[in-house]
Amino acid sequence: MNFNEIKTLDEQNIIHTYKRKDLSFEKGKGMMLYDHNGKEYYDFLAGIAVNALGHSHPALVSALKEQVEKVLHTSNYYYIEPQSTLAEKICSHTCADRVFFGNSGAEANEGAIKLAKIYHYKNGHPERIEIITLKNSFHGRTLATIASTGQKKYQQAYEPLTPGFIHVEINDIENLKQTVNHETAAIMLELVQGESGVHPIDKEYVQQVRKLCDEYDIPLIIDEVQTGMGRTGKLMAYQHFDIEPDIFTMAKALGGGVPIGALCAKEKYAKYFTPGDHGSTFGGNFLATTAGNVVFDVFDKENILDNAQKSGAYFKNKLEEIAKTSKLVKEIRGIGLMLGVELNEPVADEIALSLQEKGFLIGTVAGTILRFLPPLIVTTDDIDKLCDALKEYL
Ligand SMILES: Cc1ncc(COP(=O)(O)O)c(C=O)c1O
Repeated sequence: MNFNEIKTLDEQNIIHTYKRKDLSFEKGKGMMLYDHNGKEYYDFLAGIAVNALGHSHPALVSALKEQVEKVLHTSNYYYIEPQSTLAEKICSHTCADRVFFGNSGAEANEGAIKLAKIYHYKNGHPERIEIITLKNSFHGRTLATIASTGQKKYQQAYEPLTPGFIHVEINDIENLKQTVNHETAAIMLELVQGESGVHPIDKEYVQQVRKLCDEYDIPLIIDEVQTGMGRTGKLMAYQHFDIEPDIFTMAKALGGGVPIGALCAKEKYAKYFTPGDHGSTFGGNFLATTAGNVVFDVFDKENILDNAQKSGAYFKNKLEEIAKTSKLVKEIRGIGLMLGVELNEPVADEIALSLQEKGFLIGTVAGTILRFLPPLIVTTDDIDKLCDALKEYL
């Protein structure tokens, strides 16, 4: 099928929730994507922080092929070998004691919210129902996760929203202290707010939030859907902040492109989900968890975290160099390979389009922020190429 045929079918049959670029890809390899005319693109967006190993990583391709030929899905009525091994990998590399698998970030966050609530309910505190999150946060598109998301634009059309969500100012501990009370069930944070423009949260603030959660016996939920699995140069972003969450969620990079979500919790909370309290038909099936196992294995074998850290530092440094001679750059933000460049003028989409024409894919936020989320295998050479192209516009 050629590009125009695909586009026509899409426009006639798909519900128009996405503002698509005029582009579709046929295949990918490592950092590169190839469109229907064979034109190649450096992928500095990685399917919005998903393709941590790049495209068509040979280990992922062969493990998935092998699994597809054996069995894809049996349901959670039965034990699933790759599910149990992936859960063990997550628990042994993080502070989690147990994992529940779903299919997306929003589903993982829904599970986290439910787990916080059931903890209080089963402890005789059904009045503890409020979840505090931050303004400008993004936690997903389901009804509870848009209510937890601190951005009106995602909420307005869907009122009345799921009740019980309160949004506080980012990095304002006094605002949080005034809000938390004995009806609070949990505090939920992203450590680097991604969708709203790559805003890292202050370390001191996060540490104070941790203390507040202990004081009130409420779980600290960290949404690591975007930051998790190495995006910030450590396996989990919370490891930069010298705290441990009680509950955290992962999704995007965990399956290297295969849909998966994970709700990860310490035993203190995890034990409150008992049979019947939560579930998911597809969650943790053979295909998704085989992918997750491969992602973990390749992280070890190919020192992916090390590369994410080094390439991230190199990339940020290069952007800062460019910014020194640019009147257009307002601020460079981010950790590891989750970087954003805020501009003084609303030309981010124009720049992204010009870069696309030159064979570089990047993201934008709100017309003023350039967003970079490359695969964690990105090299300094790839970064040099992008920065050379970018220089012209900044
Ligand atoms: C921090 C964060 N949480 C949750 C989500 C929702 O994930 P999904 O789109 O997989 O439901 C996203 C998606 O961008 C995200 O960045």
